[in-house]
Amino acid sequence: MKHIIKSQQLDQKLINRIFALATALEKKKSQVLKGKIMASLFYEPSTRTRFSFESAMIRLGGSVITTENAKEFSSVAKGETLEDSIKVIGNYADVIVLRHDEQGSAERAASVSSVPIINAGDGAGQHPTQALLDLYTIKRELGKIDGITLALVGDLKNGRTIRSLSYLLGKYKNIKIYFVSPIGLRVGEDIKIYLKEQQTDYEETTDLFSIVGKVDVLYQTRIQKERFATKKEYEKFNGCYTIDGELVKKMKIKSIIMHPLPRVNEILTEVDKLPQAVYFKQTYYGLLIRMALLKLVIKL
Ligand code: CP
Repeated sequence: MKHIIKSQQLDQKLINRIFALATALEKKKSQVLKGKIMASLFYEPSTRTRFSFESAMIRLGGSVITTENAKEFSSVAKGETLEDSIKVIGNYADVIVLRHDEQGSAERAASVSSVPIINAGDGAGQHPTQALLDLYTIKRELGKIDGITLALVGDLKNGRTIRSLSYLLGKYKNIKIYFVSPIGLRVGEDIKIYLKEQQTDYEETTDLFSIVGKVDVLYQTRIQKERFATKKEYEKFNGCYTIDGELVKKMKIKSIIMHPLPRVNEILTEVDKLPQAVYFKQTYYGLLIRMALLKLVIKL
């Protein structure tokens, strides 16, 4: 594995290897990346992905060079192309973690890069490292992935975490997915075609209340304000599904609530203290997964 671009490239054997390494790195500290450099090149805002990758690199003994607003603070502001930036940064770093606002940008970067590219989110495309940490959270919290029922809720049209997670879930047995969204924000056809091919059972619904008691995982997402053409269009969907204490009472005791974060208003803070809420723990599991990924892709 050189680049990490999309979930489709990850098979169960590799996923298990990444999970095992993440768990091992949690138990035993390692400075295995001492002398290596990670460049984080972010054209879009981020809290979790950038900081967790940077923390992961430093925890493994490596160093970080970074631009958190590449559109303004890199030579892109002078008109440099992504391809040229990547060719240059490859001379300075052993791995590039890239977040970009255009779908397909990670693939473009990989096609010219001399060092591994890790896709940290490409527009409404994919966010494969988020999907890995989501799956790892499920495995750690529920003890299994096969046989579970999930509700993926919110902006399923624009949410890249949902796309990447669906592609991974299709690799597991006896999964049932409820895609819960307003009609205008339904999950893409490519995901539905893929799940049919994988014989993964799924249903689309607008009604969260009717299914919430059946699920093991309630995966809530934000309405992706930045992907709407106008504020008016966004406001049509803002607040369409809110998880509150009353809704959680309808859930199974052993179920979990996940969210890639950031949240806006779609999970009330009263839910944070409930045993089902694992979305902050999910960010910790993300650190472990990103340590494992850096160790796997950087040439030692
Ligand atoms: N989940 C996620 O990608 O968060 P950030 O946008 O803060 O990186």
